[in-house]
Amino acid sequence: MGLRNTTERWGAVSQLLHWLIVGLLIVQVTLAEMADELPVGVKKLTLLARHKSFGITILALALLRLAWRLRNPTPLLPGTLKPYERALARITHVTLYVLLFAMPLSGWTMSSARGFPVSWFHLFQLPDLVSKNKALYEALLTTHGTLAAVLAVVVALHVAGALKHHFIHKDDVLRRMLPLPSATSGTRR
Ligand code: HEM
Ligand code: HEM
Repeated sequence: MGLRNTTERWGAVSQLLHWLIVGLLIVQVTLAEMADELPVGVKKLTLLARHKSFGITILALALLRLAWRLRNPTPLLPGTLKPYERALARITHVTLYVLLFAMPLSGWTMSSARGFPVSWFHLFQLPDLVSKNKALYEALLTTHGTLAAVLAVVVALHVAGALKHHFIHKDDVLRRMLPLPSATSGTRR
């Protein structure tokens, strides 16, 4: 498997970025849930600091991923897909990209509005995106939580789509996002 994508399958860089982001999202939601259960204190703040650092990492990887995608071909969808399935796949993928940026940016802006600077694993501090503002903090807290709920729904739809391709259509769509050899090839996006 090459590093770059072809019109047949995802290359190693796209695959690595896809699965790395999936893993980090799991860590991210776990840290948020753990912090949520704790009373305000050092332990909660430590978990949230880690949540912020991983969140900024996801933002950087999403940027890298988008840049790589724009400079590479994308695998074609199987020609047997109905127009609505094609449209659903596209809408889901675009929404996932939007959320990969909106989640960390809402979190970062929320922290700035709260008056808490964001550091990346204590290695360097990021600039504040807005000045301290309680009303904005509260609005962004709700936004961040709502976006996380939307992400969960869209990911569920996305995973259902991937499994449908694999087990019902029995095509290559899931295999080509994994380091596995292809069985057939796509025809049209
Ligand atoms: C893809 C990235 C991210 C995901 C999926 C994510 C997800 C979540 C979730 C599920 C919660 C719990 C919400 C709730 O209990 O209502 C949360 C809370 C929080 N997130 Fe994020 N987050 C991300 C990035 C960030 C970033 C980059 C920051 C800041 C730099 C951040 C700051 C926070 C803070 C401070 C809270 C706790 C809010 C509070 O309870 O006061 N998040 N996040
Ligand atoms: C958990 C968060 C996930 C996010 C944010 C995510 C995001 C994305 C995005 C944005 C794409 C479109 C790639 C592009 O066009 O550049 C994609 C493709 C894909 N994802 Fe995910 N994904 C997630 C989880 C999963 C899981 C768990 C599976 C497997 C069950 C999966 C299977 C796939 C497959 C097979 C493709 C390729 C579709 C194609 O070739 O047309 N994803 N993913």
